[in-house]
Amino acid sequence: MGRILVIGAKGMLGRDLVEVLRTSSRNDEVVAWDLGDLDIREEQSTIAKIESIYPEIVINVAAFTHVDECESNEEKVFTINAEGMRHVALGALRCHAKVVYLSTDYVFDGRKKEPYLESDPPNPLNVYGRSKWKGEQYVQELVENSLIIRTQWLYGSYGNNFVTSILRQVREKRVLSIVNDQIGSPTYTKDLSKAIFVLIQLDVKGIFHVANRDLCTWYQFGQAILKLTGIVGVKIIPISSKELGRPAPRPSYSALSTQKLKRETGMMLRPWSEALKDYLQSKDRPF
Ligand SMILES: NC(=O)c1ccc[n+]([C@@H]2O[C@H](COP(=O)([O-])OP(=O)(O)OC[C@H]3O[C@@H](n4cnc5c(N)ncnc54)[C@H](OP(=O)(O)O)[C@@H]3O)[C@@H](O)[C@H]2O)c1
Repeated sequence: MGRILVIGAKGMLGRDLVEVLRTSSRNDEVVAWDLGDLDIREEQSTIAKIESIYPEIVINVAAFTHVDECESNEEKVFTINAEGMRHVALGALRCHAKVVYLSTDYVFDGRKKEPYLESDPPNPLNVYGRSKWKGEQYVQELVENSLIIRTQWLYGSYGNNFVTSILRQVREKRVLSIVNDQIGSPTYTKDLSKAIFVLIQLDVKGIFHVANRDLCTWYQFGQAILKLTGIVGVKIIPISSKELGRPAPRPSYSALSTQKLKRETGMMLRPWSEALKDYLQSKDRPF
């Protein structure tokens, strides 16, 4: 039995992850911290607090995740997503703890025509992606025993996400406009949490891409949500990212290859459509 520290434990992924870790067979002690317990922007207190509980594994899922807001808040974003990660890594080093960092498909520019490998060079298009890549670099430079998990398009039972946003909008509108020129894999935080648990158990190191299987556009994801919830009488219009005009540019193609995950762990996440169905039927969904 060991001690696992989860930082960002009250976020969308953090909550599911803590639940999965606490109900897992390993019987680890899981310490769940969020902003009220420590602020990873503060170097000294972050290092001291981590050292005070001497964890064996530190999982950092804390981040500033509002991708569009990031564009006009570069300094703040880097302080949390990159420097915050550095502070966590320094604290973990004092305890000889393994570091697990959650990163994103937005480290890539989307110009590749086939799924991104862990070894492909990042070239982020937006501030959020650049801050997360810097976080990755700190982890790699500072901690030998580290695991970087890149994932994408998360939705789950806790917090706002694409699914909750669509279901909120259909209460007020009969016509929705959704972008149809970005491709990726919607990923259920419960599935991702289980995968993180397995990766920890196997004690793997390096970078791993983890996402639900199969690809779609946001428009197709939206269509699937309406179909699976039986909502009729709502029309979805496919639009381009340019038409939507969001502040942060996004990669048009950010499929993450999960072949390394399969090869090294035997694990393959289920198709996103199956996971979505499960989520929409689950009793703890937030709508
Ligand atoms: N959401 C996605 O689609 C997606 C895709 C790829 C990768 N990821 C990565 O996956 C991880 C989890 O994402 P998520 O969507 O679950 O994020 P989230 O819901 O925004 O949760 C992040 C948590 O971190 C906390 N936090 C923020 N600043 C902090 C600080 N300075 N010190 C300590 N805690 C702080 C937040 O608290 P407050 O809410 O009080 O600010 C929140 O509870 C992140 O690393 C993210 O970059 C997410």
